[in-house]
Amino acid sequence: MKSLEYNRPTLQGEITVPGDKSISHRSVMFGAIAKGTTTVEGFLLGEDCLSTIDCFHKLGVKIEVDNTNVKIESPGIDGWEEPKEVLYTGNSGTTTRLMLGILSGTKLHTIMTGDASIGKRPMRRVVDPLRLMGAKIAGRENGQFTPLAIQGTTLTAIDYRMPVASAQVKSAILLAGLRANGTTIVRESEVSRDHTERMLRQFGARVRVEEGVVSFEGGQSLTGTHVKVPGDISSAAFFLVAGAITNGSRIVLHNVGVNETRAGIIEVLEKMGANMTVEIEDEKAAEPTATITIETSTLEATTIEGEIIPRLIDEIPVLALLATQANGTTVIKDAEELKVKETDRIAAVVAELKKLGATIEATHDGMIIHGPTPLHGAKLNSYGDHRIGMMAAVAALITNESIELDDAQCVAVSYPTFFEHVDSLIQK
Ligand code: S3P
Repeated sequence: MKSLEYNRPTLQGEITVPGDKSISHRSVMFGAIAKGTTTVEGFLLGEDCLSTIDCFHKLGVKIEVDNTNVKIESPGIDGWEEPKEVLYTGNSGTTTRLMLGILSGTKLHTIMTGDASIGKRPMRRVVDPLRLMGAKIAGRENGQFTPLAIQGTTLTAIDYRMPVASAQVKSAILLAGLRANGTTIVRESEVSRDHTERMLRQFGARVRVEEGVVSFEGGQSLTGTHVKVPGDISSAAFFLVAGAITNGSRIVLHNVGVNETRAGIIEVLEKMGANMTVEIEDEKAAEPTATITIETSTLEATTIEGEIIPRLIDEIPVLALLATQANGTTVIKDAEELKVKETDRIAAVVAELKKLGATIEATHDGMIIHGPTPLHGAKLNSYGDHRIGMMAAVAALITNESIELDDAQCVAVSYPTFFEHVDSLIQK
């Protein structure tokens, strides 16, 4: 149990946001698939990304980590060793789902499993399209749940319309498509994060993207390269909200990745009237970055729905907290996907914010929040979910009493230095 007693501080200062989790995972995966050397700067040393590295160690890929610099020396996907041990993906859905796509097209037999949360997350959304490509995957409930056993085989390309907006599903298919005969086509009705498409190009592959259709020839090989990982906007989100809702605050966030398929939170903050400026640092980079300054803000409620949802899905817990401080009724809908994240994030957010005195109710696909309401102290549960844990910590910045948070260390999944960054901003 961690006691969060901040006594309504003001927050002032600057933070360089740690590396993007999605891009860090992919940098190691692509570096391992490519023959030769890949160097990565700005890698996220979160537990999830370390799980990805650990899987590739077991596949015989040489990976050296020196602070946030990572060097991958790989014999290429055809030179990987069949692992003698189970590949352990920890809490990481991205590792589990993308590895399914990658491993399906090798010649190897592998078994993958993760923690208790991973054991409850649906895998058929990835397993089904991979089976259409010829993949041989076995697991509990016909491949819905880990542990999963994969017998690598020859794959054939598919033309697939995605039933859910999910970058993990899209990426698993594209990565399997790298090894498949023919042209793999993935059709999205709502655009999800496109880091895989961007990184395939960085590693020398040709990918076509036109109005929600990604297509890509199988059999292309990847060439090792240098990857610069931008800061994670999903981590910056906690400080964007903290700066907006605490009195007398001004926070400058450097190196924030602002790829438009991820930057929905910026649009929402602007619409709610946040006192915020976004200054683009590096527009031409494979993944653009910005410096964002946020100050204490008077906020108006809003509706968050439709195509923006996949572009801010991981930010919804902290946006719900933000909405408790906005004038009026905020409605979040079209976000059923929250139910199958690290925990059921609709149930978790509603239950925990209610304990603090928020006026919030769950709906089948989101939540409704009436603001503004003062929040008070309580005992909160993180459910072992990093983003629920960090939402609770940001809430503690505006409560008069302390918040007692169980399993607070789960923030290390995506943001190991989170509590240090909070402390560094508090004006003594
Ligand atoms: C991710 C995609 C999203 C996101 C997750 C990371 C990725 O999941 O919630 O944190 O790296 O591709 P879905 O693909 O399930 O939407």
